[in-house]
Parts: sequence; C-alpha cells; structure tokens
Amino acid sequence: MNGDTVRWQVREQRPITYDVIKAKHLFHPDNRALLLPGLREGGRRFVVLDDHVALLHGEAIRAWFTHHEIDARIAIFPSGEEHKTFDSYQELLHELDAFPIHRRDEPIIAIGGGVLTDVVGFAAASYRRSVPHIKVPTTLMGYVDASIGIKVGINFNGHKNRLGSFEPPLAVFLDKTFLRTVPRRHLLNGVCEIIKLAIIRDAALFEQLEADGVRSITAFFANKAGDAILDRAVGGMLEELTPNLYEDTLERKVDFGHTFSYGLEARHQHRLLHGEAVLLDILVSSGLAQQRGLLAEHELTRIFSLVECLGIELDTTVLDVDSIWQSLLERIEHRNGKQRVPVPTGLGQCVFLNDITHQELEIAVLALHARMTASHEPALER
Ligand SMILES: NC(=O)c1ccc[n+]([C@@H]2O[C@H](COP(=O)([O-])OP(=O)(O)OC[C@H]3O[C@@H](n4cnc5c(N)ncnc54)[C@H](O)[C@@H]3O)[C@@H](O)[C@H]2O)c1
Repeated sequence: MNGDTVRWQVREQRPITYDVIKAKHLFHPDNRALLLPGLREGGRRFVVLDDHVALLHGEAIRAWFTHHEIDARIAIFPSGEEHKTFDSYQELLHELDAFPIHRRDEPIIAIGGGVLTDVVGFAAASYRRSVPHIKVPTTLMGYVDASIGIKVGINFNGHKNRLGSFEPPLAVFLDKTFLRTVPRRHLLNGVCEIIKLAIIRDAALFEQLEADGVRSITAFFANKAGDAILDRAVGGMLEELTPNLYEDTLERKVDFGHTFSYGLEARHQHRLLHGEAVLLDILVSSGLAQQRGLLAEHELTRIFSLVECLGIELDTTVLDVDSIWQSLLERIEHRNGKQRVPVPTGLGQCVFLNDITHQELEIAVLALHARMTASHEPALER
C-alpha cells in the first residue's frame, strides 16, 4: 500500500429475526396477538387496510383497535396490481406523515393482499429510513408467499417490482379466517405458488395437492388437509428464503415460474394474475425440461393433470415466443448475466439452466398449446 493511502473499512453484521405466527381470529376482541410484547400498549398505530377487506372485515378490525384503546389511523388502500404504483406509494407516505408515530414502538400494520403488503413494506422501508411494520396477509398469495419474506416494492416504468427494498417485518400474522372471503380465482392464484413449491422442491406437497387439493380449495383451506397443505407450503417457502434472504445466491429454486412470466404479467396486467402468469411459466419450463430428457413424460402429465383437476383455468393465448424470450433476456440482467432458470428434473427436484435457446422455447410453447387443445377436445374426437 502506498504511504499516502489511508483506508477505513466498515463492517457490521445485523441478525435478522422475525416470527411468522399462525393466529386464528386475529381480530376477535380477546385476541392479544397483535399487541406484541415490548411494544407500546395502547399508543398509536398507522394501519393500512385493503379496500375489499375493509368492506368485508372492516367493522371487526376497527372494533378491535377501539377495544384495545389504540388510537388507530386506518388508511384504506385501493386493491389490485394497477395500484402497485409510485403514486399509491407516495400517497401512502403523505398519509403516514400526517399521522405521527414513534419511530420504534408503534409499528405500521399492513392488512391486505400481496399488493398492499409489498407497497406498505416499501413505505416502511423508506419512511425515516425504516420504521417497523407488521404484515397480516388476507389472500392465499399473501399467506404462502408475498408476506412471509422480506422483499417489498412497487412497479415502476412498466416493470414489475422495479423499485423496492429488502425490509424484514417485525412479525407476520397468518390468519386463515380471511381466506373464507377470497374470490375463487384469487384463491387459485395462491394455489399456483403452492404448485410451484411442490414441483421444484417438495414431492410430498405435490402428493398432498393431488390427494386433498380439490376439497381444500372448496373448504377455503379450513379443513384439516387444507391446513396441512398450507403449513407445508409456508414452512417450505421459509426454508428456501431464510438462508438467502438478501438473494446473495442468484440461483433460487423459488424463481421457478418467475422467468417467462415476468414480461407476461406486465403486458397483460388486466388479464393475468401473478400466480396465473407463474403457472404458465411453470408449464413452459416443465415442458422444456421434458424435451431435454430431464423430466419424465409421466411426470409432466401429472403436472398437467393436477392443474386441470384443481380447476385452474389458464389463458394460454397470451403465450407468444418472442415476448417470453424478451422476458428471459430481461431476467438475465436481473440475475447478473446468466439465465439461471430453474427447471424440474423430477417432482421435487431441479437444476438451473443457462443455455436455453429461442428455438427450444418455441418448441415448448407449441407443445403446450397442442397439449391444452387436446385436453379440451371432446373425448370421442381424441
Ligand atoms: N414480496 C414478495 O416476495 C411477493 C411474492 C409473491 C407475490 N408478490 C406480489 O403479490 C401481489 C399479488 O398479491 P395478491 O394476489 O394477494 O393480490 P392483491 O393484493 O391485489 O389481492 C387480490 C384481490 O383480493 C382482494 N382481497 C384481499 N383479501 C381479501 C379477502 N380476505 N377477502 C376478499 N377479497 C380480498 C383484494 O382487494 C384484491 O382485489 C403481486 O403484486 C406480486 O408481485 C410479492
């Protein structure tokens, strides 16, 4: 080192700790789970509530805060992907700024679907350079995926989640009773993420879906088998996320279904839900794995049969090769120069591919269209 050079190195490690807590009937007046120990009793809370949840459950939620003598400012947030914007984020920050809260012991409480918890988490990350927040997911997508990790963000410049942060919550409360009012299409939207986990890392979960998926969906997962499916999905998701919370490793199994879906979702925002786009990607990726001889034909058939028997309707007309190829190119930037596309090598296992070609993607999409058409033809014609 040259004698004129001085170097100070700053190095610090911060442990990340938060609990994901199953808590039924969170807003029953006697339930004290949300009054986390160590936080200010009473006091104030800035609460952000999804507009549909406000209509369906708002009365009980407001009554709970009154019962526990908490001065709550309840901000109603318009739901849906079209509101995951910079404008919504900014409006939220204006409302928050108008309702003073302590920087440490009066956490923001986010109650809603994945859109809401992502936007509120990002607002919490940026307000005063981070104030604590608690997430209460009210959709299945939020329950098994969107709320339990530390990624938060908003869509920007035509790209999904282009602005965001890694912001650990103080806690996440999973209350299944909210699922009872989730519309069927949105329930199935969450099921798509469970299918993702099952194919890529958990063959036993796949079997549970085959055996109990249909009746669990019908029962809004309030049945015993549905409970077991959700516990396994949440546990599995957390096992994947925990050792790689900040995505230092860019090969992530949970990115299964999140390569080709990326552009699709942004392009067809009004036609495709997040999980539906993910499932289309899963089917293309699995078909591609079968073409390469990585996945057995009978396993691919089981995947398609599961999707059909769970009653998930897919709009395959949105799949065109050039646009999903563009999504792949975009993901290469995100994954620092390599494709890193997870594909199954059997149910419950995977490898990462870095050499997918336009041509094999074209074959996979054509094969998918052919399979879907065949499955919709009357039996006699087959
Ligand atoms: N941060 C992450 O790691 C992560 C992971 C997966 C998905 N996501 C994000 O999650 C978002 C999708 O989440 P989503 O599917 O929950 O969408 P959403 O938040 O738009 O909710 C879907 C719909 O359900 C309604 N709703 C919510 N709870 C309800 C209830 N209990 N009863 C009746 N209706 C209810 C909402 O008002 C909305 O109309 C996407 O933006 C996606 O990017 C984030």
